[in-house]
Amino acid sequence: MTDARIATARLGEQGPEVGVQGLGCMGMSFAYGPTDTDQARAALERALELGVTLYDTADAYGAGENERFLSPFFKAHRDEVVIATKFALSIPPDDPTKRVIRNDPPYIREAVEASLRRLGVDVIDLYYMHRRDVHVPIEESVGTMADLVREGKVRHLGLSEVTADELRAAHAVHPIAAVQSEWSLFSRDIEARVVPAARDLGVALVPYSPLGRGFLTGSFADAEKDLTADDFRRMQPRFTGANASANAALLEPVRAIAEAHGATPGQIALAWVHQRAAVDGLTVVPIPGTRKPGRVEENAAATALTLTDGELARLEPIAAKVAGSRYADMAFVSAGRE
Ligand SMILES: NC(=O)c1ccc[n+]([C@@H]2O[C@H](COP(=O)([O-])OP(=O)(O)OC[C@H]3O[C@@H](n4cnc5c(N)ncnc54)[C@H](OP(=O)(O)O)[C@@H]3O)[C@@H](O)[C@H]2O)c1
Repeated sequence: MTDARIATARLGEQGPEVGVQGLGCMGMSFAYGPTDTDQARAALERALELGVTLYDTADAYGAGENERFLSPFFKAHRDEVVIATKFALSIPPDDPTKRVIRNDPPYIREAVEASLRRLGVDVIDLYYMHRRDVHVPIEESVGTMADLVREGKVRHLGLSEVTADELRAAHAVHPIAAVQSEWSLFSRDIEARVVPAARDLGVALVPYSPLGRGFLTGSFADAEKDLTADDFRRMQPRFTGANASANAALLEPVRAIAEAHGATPGQIALAWVHQRAAVDGLTVVPIPGTRKPGRVEENAAATALTLTDGELARLEPIAAKVAGSRYADMAFVSAGRE
């Protein structure tokens, strides 16, 4: 691996310029089992050396713990990093399977102050609404988010898992720099409506879980057998039992294409997501998550891979064959409301 820096891209017409691949930091404190924190810190530093500048967190990741963990890194490199965090979601401590969603203005104001405190910075570069509370008009929530921009607490706005209509309504209130939604070889529902809307509006797409939460790399095959008891992926229907074995078989073409490129299956999965920028005609900045510096290098190197039309055609049928939904309750994400 050379130290060549990855290319850059702009999030939205007026948004920040970032490395064309970001780093998902959620797993460093939440959802994916135990973390070696020294390795995680080394992963953050290595990413920055390679030109990865967009760092993704949320107040919900470990009930603030992820933001606190990232704070020293952000403070040490404040002018080089683009800090993205999110509000709206909380997980009741007595029931980790539940999710509470709030988008009302007083909640947003409390949430931003708490995130700023934990992060130890005076401004958040990209502030996302993590999930949509359908009981609050989106214009009202985005109106408050826009006030935060005017007040200098936040620089740019983003939305996660919104429908195309929600995105249009929000963008009419204040420019939205990025939509963050799940997008990978296994999860392509946003291509029907959200992606065309983002392209029309000049909004960037920030695909989360571009490695299918690790499944596309082959790093686990069955969440119940291979992952720790508290791992979130055990709650996702596609990663357990008969679904998991059927889905593992779908990875064969990914492996074959990887071999032809002298690459790993994960790199092919990432190259596919990056190539959506050319296929769909919009800016795409995926945020693969890893806690290991070697994997940061591997993932960054995928930005230099180009798949042929024939390879893209071989990968095309995979998503439609995936057994099991991406969340147990699809009302939680945009596809459940489109
Ligand atoms: N907006 C939302 O609702 C939402 C939802 C989920 C995630 N996110 C964000 O998106 C980010 C990325 O998504 P994600 O972490 O869920 O899924 P992902 O990026 O698809 O996959 C992460 C998993 O893959 C493993 N991995 C990463 N690189 C690898 C490599 N080169 N070889 C083998 N395994 C590798 C990681 O393990 P190690 O860490 O052990 O390397 C981790 O278990 C998150 O960190 C979070 O910031 C947002």
